[in-house]
Amino acid sequence: MKLWQGRFDAPEAADADAFNESLSFDKKLWRADITASVAHATMLGKCGILTQEEADAICAGLRSIYADIESGSLAIAGQEDIHSFVEGELVARIGQTGKKLHTARSRNDQVATDMRLYARDATDAAMEHLKAIVSVLLERAKETVRYVMPGFTHLRKAQPINCAQYFNAYSEMFLRDLDRFAALRRRMNVMPLGSAAMAGTSWKIDREVTRSLLAFDAVSQNAPDAVSDRDFVAEYLFCASLTMAHLSRLCEDTILYTSDEFGYWDIPDAYSTGSSIMPQKKNPDIPELVRGKTGRVYGHLMAVLTMLKGIPLAYDKDLQEDKEPFFDAQTTLENCLSIYTALLAKLTFNVNRMYDAAGEGYATATDVADYLAKRGVPFRDAHAVTGKIVRYCIEKQKPLTALTLEEFRAASPVFEEDVLQTVTTRASAEGRDSVGGSSVRAAREGIASLKRRLAKY
Ligand code: ARG
Repeated sequence: MKLWQGRFDAPEAADADAFNESLSFDKKLWRADITASVAHATMLGKCGILTQEEADAICAGLRSIYADIESGSLAIAGQEDIHSFVEGELVARIGQTGKKLHTARSRNDQVATDMRLYARDATDAAMEHLKAIVSVLLERAKETVRYVMPGFTHLRKAQPINCAQYFNAYSEMFLRDLDRFAALRRRMNVMPLGSAAMAGTSWKIDREVTRSLLAFDAVSQNAPDAVSDRDFVAEYLFCASLTMAHLSRLCEDTILYTSDEFGYWDIPDAYSTGSSIMPQKKNPDIPELVRGKTGRVYGHLMAVLTMLKGIPLAYDKDLQEDKEPFFDAQTTLENCLSIYTALLAKLTFNVNRMYDAAGEGYATATDVADYLAKRGVPFRDAHAVTGKIVRYCIEKQKPLTALTLEEFRAASPVFEEDVLQTVTTRASAEGRDSVGGSSVRAAREGIASLKRRLAKY
């Protein structure tokens, strides 16, 4: 029997019912739904809309349902949605009084409230996962602060960088993600309950009671907006999408850097996979899967944004389509962050290979140009002279570090003995001591700054 059957002569057709139902996925909201209903019934009792005995009976009934779902003794099934399920079960348990729970409430403000409670927990969880991955990245940065590795632009060797500086780059991204989720949490923590179907209610309710019981920061100020606002769902999906983008970049680096061609890092066997035909293969399936799953989170964001754009004020059933994208994005995000945090903690480094590679490809050419510019040669000219030196090296097939002072001086008389030191990989990385730079000191400063900012969450 439907909550809304009264107005109808015939029961809903089986296929219409199957198409309309949301219980198969919104059962995830059971905790939020019962918690919000307990708050609502408590408020109805306090306001004298229900007698205290009625409110107590409803709350006790709801709590017994909560306990039974939690313990696994009550299966969620047989109704259109989670709201109908909880109410039906309540009436089955406590009788007629249970039918009073829905006084001064609609499923419209109910589902909007449930989704916010659920999304608030999901946001807290995302923040915990982000804190965990940044902590591991900072750990790895601390361990590798003396290692030099190649830095790339256009995926061509650019300049030697500090390994800690590399990890700090991703910590910066994830810290921005953390801040975005924190801001989202503040914005989403507004309570729609009390908006009823779309226009408010004639009952003398006290929304402040439910607000405080459910730990919302404020109550919504416009009923039609409150029942149909799913901005927080779209925002969560955007925050999740951007986090996945950052994670996917890190995966791409991992896949490249652990290949034979690069050989900078190794993924331990426990986080690698093999091939069914090629016995020699050690494949990076985990980073590949995380990279691959990024697309589905983006897809969920697009689905919800598109769903929202055609919603005439106020509630429309389209809004039921907010749930599956949210739930799947949440699972995907949390699983990806968690597996990658574990993998990062186990990553190993081929220190010498990274160092040697960092010096290949004339990666210290900028230091040669800077050397000249610091001695008065205009940078543009210094750039041109250095370009010629690189061409000379290519012709002679030798690295910059193999050039003699005479060879340097043939290009410009400004070169002195100390240029031979300037072109080494370590000196190049150490020379960039600016804030955010590649020197050991700057990278350590980066770690300290990240730690300070992380501690605020
Ligand atoms: N399952 C619905 C949803 O998720 C609950 C709200 C139903 N409200 C209604 N007016 N039919 O949006």
